[in-house]
Amino acid sequence: MTNRRIETTLISAGRRARFTQGSVNSVIQRASSLVFDSVEAKKHATANRAAGELFYGRRGTLTHFALQEAMCELEGGAGCALFPCGAAAVANTILAFVEQGDHILMPNTAYEPSQDFCTKILTRMGVTTGWFDPLIGADIAALIQPNTRVVFLESPGSITMEVHDVPAIVAAVRATAPEAVIIMDNTWAAGILFKALDFGVDISVQAGTKYLVGHSDAMIGTAVANARCWDQLRENAYLMGQMVDADTAYVTSRGLRTLAVRLRQHQESSVRIASWLAEHPLVARVNHPALPGSKGHAFWKRDFTGSCGLFSFVLTKRLSEREFAHFLDNFSHFAMAYSWGGFESLILANQPEEIAALRPGAGVDFTGTLVRLHIGLENVEDLLADLAAGLERIV
Ligand SMILES: Cc1ncc(COP(=O)(O)O)c(C=O)c1O
Repeated sequence: MTNRRIETTLISAGRRARFTQGSVNSVIQRASSLVFDSVEAKKHATANRAAGELFYGRRGTLTHFALQEAMCELEGGAGCALFPCGAAAVANTILAFVEQGDHILMPNTAYEPSQDFCTKILTRMGVTTGWFDPLIGADIAALIQPNTRVVFLESPGSITMEVHDVPAIVAAVRATAPEAVIIMDNTWAAGILFKALDFGVDISVQAGTKYLVGHSDAMIGTAVANARCWDQLRENAYLMGQMVDADTAYVTSRGLRTLAVRLRQHQESSVRIASWLAEHPLVARVNHPALPGSKGHAFWKRDFTGSCGLFSFVLTKRLSEREFAHFLDNFSHFAMAYSWGGFESLILANQPEEIAALRPGAGVDFTGTLVRLHIGLENVEDLLADLAAGLERIV
């Protein structure tokens, strides 16, 4: 059916009768062994083991197939590989396309473990990494080498939230290295606020741990690939033993049903809070892609259909150790924890030199303490009051 809006697709995706068997939601089929009724049935399953036939648990069960089909429908892909967490999805998707002597490109604002995978694991395999500024655009062509095999994108950038000019990057890569595989960490957009494959990206990777699951109680990674890359990604992930349990696949499918309404509220509250912070005298800069002045805002406005609840801001001063603890230790609604994308609000802070250490070859252009917020689904007035009290603790 054509012309369905995303809210409707999120409700129906992956809910074929084969996967629901009479219920509304997909069944939870927990299995390692899947029994063949006959030699003929085993032959058929073996021949079609990568095409949705039940074969062996590591290839997936009906529960996995339902989620994989839903993700392909949502992100417009030929296939979706599932991983035990987002970091596994990033690492294994890159690994599927590189070999000794290859070169990959990654933004210097990528999520720290993604960077570490390159510097600590890929280097051991003889694969080198070049780092680029997230706002590089078409100039990425100058960094491409004859052996550049993967161009990895992450937009917005981790912690500092820069939005890429993806169409310019994709066009430059295709013109210079047509065989290179373009992979994007598309977690911030939950795979739907930015339709990476429609913009020419080959594979959209997500830490489904965040918004897909949405309740901070499970970990999963997804990688939706186009037809060019799907076979290689699927077989590599299979040989690397990458799979997720059926229960987690199920809660991820369930999370999809409320994703649009959750994101709408995350966006509304986060934009309200970010705009309030932008006016606060103790705030030097707000890094929220939906706010003018945030780096790459024009690209967000052109290419994204909305925002989620994750952004950061920089204080006018670098907090002392005592101020840092006094500020962070006393929030009522903002818990201090890694991750994001759940129903709850979270806060983390870093000193500028800590962020600079995560920006290979670049550093940072600010001197105050940086605060990263995930705006959850609490009442926004309560969150604003909590933040106002927090900022009062600084002066
Ligand atoms: C942008 C991004 N990508 C990947 C990951 C890794 O996901 P996971 O924690 O599920 O391994 C994270 C986790 O914070 C993330 O923020």
